[in-house]
Order: sequence, then C-alpha cells, then structure tokens
Amino acid sequence: MPEISQFECSRCHEIVPAGGPQTVCRKCAGSLYVRYDLAPLRGLANRENISKNHFASGWPGMWRYRSILPDAEPVTLGEGWTPMIRSRRYPNLFVKEEGANPTGSFKARGLAMAVTMARHYGLKKLAVPSAGNAAGALAAYAAVAGIEANIFMPKDVPFANYFEAIMYGANVTLVDGLISDCGRIIAERKEKEGWFDISTLKEPFRVEGKKTMGYELVEQLGWEYPDAVFYPTGGGVGLIGMWKAFAEMEELGWVRPGKRPRMIAVQSSGCAPVARAFEAGEKASQMWKDASTFASGLRVPKPYGDYIMLEILRESGGVALSLADETILASLKDWARNEGILLSPEGAAATAAYDHLLTTGFLTPQDRVVLFNTGAGLKYTDVTAEAAGIRKPA
Ligand SMILES: Cc1ncc(COP(=O)(O)O)c(C=O)c1O
Ligand SMILES: [Zn+2]
Repeated sequence: MPEISQFECSRCHEIVPAGGPQTVCRKCAGSLYVRYDLAPLRGLANRENISKNHFASGWPGMWRYRSILPDAEPVTLGEGWTPMIRSRRYPNLFVKEEGANPTGSFKARGLAMAVTMARHYGLKKLAVPSAGNAAGALAAYAAVAGIEANIFMPKDVPFANYFEAIMYGANVTLVDGLISDCGRIIAERKEKEGWFDISTLKEPFRVEGKKTMGYELVEQLGWEYPDAVFYPTGGGVGLIGMWKAFAEMEELGWVRPGKRPRMIAVQSSGCAPVARAFEAGEKASQMWKDASTFASGLRVPKPYGDYIMLEILRESGGVALSLADETILASLKDWARNEGILLSPEGAAATAAYDHLLTTGFLTPQDRVVLFNTGAGLKYTDVTAEAAGIRKPA
C-alpha cells in the first residue's frame, strides 16, 4: 500500500501536506483528492499481478487494489469485486451489481475506506448526513471499528436504512427535511459534539474507496474502457472517484490509453440539479426546490461536488439527464420480469436512461456500456411496493 504523498484541491489545486485527517481546502473549500507518487508504482504494481494474486494475497474485494489505496489496516466486511452481469437483451450492456456489497449498496466502498482512515487517525466519533444507504454503511463499518456513528437522515428514508442503522448501533436522528438539512445540523453541532464530519466530498476518503469501481469495471472488461458508464447521481462520489481511477490507471499504464468512457449522470426529474446545470451550460448547480423522488439516493438538492461532476461530464463527452419516476418504475418492472434483476430505483433510473439514450441516438446498441445498479432492490421493499401499488397482505 502506498504512502499518501499529499492532498490536492479539486478546485484551486492547492497542495496540502499528508498526515492527519483532512476536511476541505482551507483556501476555497473545494474537495481534496488523495495523491500518491505513482511513478515508483509503475513497475511494482502491475495489473497482471492484481488479476493473478488477489486470492492468494488474502485481500479480497476492493482491497485487491491496495497498491493504489492508502497505507492503513482495512476495516472491511468484504466490499467490492461485485458481479458484472451481461444483459439478456442487450449484448453490449453490463450491469455492475453493487447491491452485492455488504449493507447492500456501493456506499460500502466509500465508507469502508473512510472508516479505515478514521480508525488509522484515531478518530472516535463520526457524523454523516445521508439519503439512506451511506447511513447503513457507516453504521456497519463503525461497528467493526468500534467508532461512534452519528447519523442524520430524512424521516422518509426507506425503512431498511433506518432499521439497519439502528441494528448496527448507530445514533440515529430522523430529520423532517432533506439531506441538505441533515448536513446543516451536523455543521452546526459537530464542533461542540466532537464529531468528525464524513459528509460526501467533505473529506477525501469516500472518493478513494469509490474509485475502486473504476478500476474494477476496467479490469472486468479485460482492462479496456467501455464506451459509456451510467451513474445514478446524487452527490456524485462514484462518478468523481471513477474518473480519478481512470487517470491513475493511465498513469500506471494499466489501461490502454484511448478514449475514456462517456460519463452519464442520471437523476430523477423530481430532483435534477446536475441535469439542469448541465443543460444550461453552467459550472455549478442551483439548489433544487421541493426535491421529491422514490429514488431516495438521488434526492440531493445541491451536491457539494457539482462543479467537479459537470467538468467530468463535459470532458468525457457525456451527458446528465433526468427521468420521471413513472419511467423509472416502468424500467424497474421491466428489468425484474425480463432480466431477473430487481433493481434499486436509482439503478432503474440508469436503465431507463439507457433506453432513452438509445432512442435519441446518443448511444447505439453497439456501444459497450456499464450501468450501475448502486443498491439492492430489496432494500427498497417498502418504497418500491408503494410505488407499484403492492400491499402487504392483511
Ligand atoms: C442506491 C444509491 N444510488 C445512488 C446514490 C447517489 O450516490 P452519489 O452520492 O455517489 O452520487 C445513492 C446515495 O445515497 C444511493 O444510495
Ligand atoms: Zn482550493
């Protein structure tokens, strides 16, 4: 595992020396990236060794990429290396099944890494605002690490998120509001309470964990880029993390230099700040009023890292788009019946977006596409059943 050489601000490129926990850039409040000296790694960490040796090494899941993750003893429940499932109907479409992670969502990757570093630095109390799945993941990894988890989430999160956070022993507060209100409460109270805030993009390690999705999808496609990646976007950590992974892999010589995938950010039309800013050609998003969608993970009215996402979407030749909840639900039903995959509403937003971009001609059926089902459909039993009009038998 490499030493962190420094942190770099994503906005003003200020360099922050390594050592100790980090929050955001002191100059401009931009998110910080973890940087390593990759040059000496070029020879040591070659990709064939990763493919060959990960079983013998005892580093399963996302920790197979430990050669480009910070040097610390992992807090792990076996996250990462999730299945890549080829669609029955679209031979060039692959679903990255992140519901297979511990706690049933891709949030496991970022929070395994963030809690690993929190333990490494000796932090004792963490706090997070969450749309739901980050709460469950933090609660689980905090339980493994013996760290206190303080969780604030909207009172109408899927029941599974509330249930799991309680079961893992977190301090849970349900808030009459959105994730942005939860974030505000933490910001107000953290100093007095002694909490370290691991909000999306307000510390550098959740991106570092989620970047493993980028490494993984390239390795699972035979160390080649797909043509496009569909990412259900709330705060955008995974999208930002994958783009970082692509840059690192190119520097390491792990992927044939060529065209990076078009990055496609998918939102619900009930909360689409990134899609609206993208269409308007803006550099940052505006707070989305009265955000509402059954794809609860997408209910982020003003993502902190909007400026990073918008830059990536444009640089990659991608797009941000939003779909109505009815369209998302129709796609969810379609995939359950015709592919045997019960998607999360967020994942179904991506499948609906795929259908849409085929009809507009933005993509063709020949394009190789990876689409993220970011959470397990079963975590949403209450929410999806209600949307589909399925009642619990009396
Ligand atoms: C299932 C699911 N998909 C997507 C998202 C959005 O993730 P990100 O904040 O990385 O954009 C979330 C966030 O809560 C989620 O739980
Ligand atoms: Zn800065």
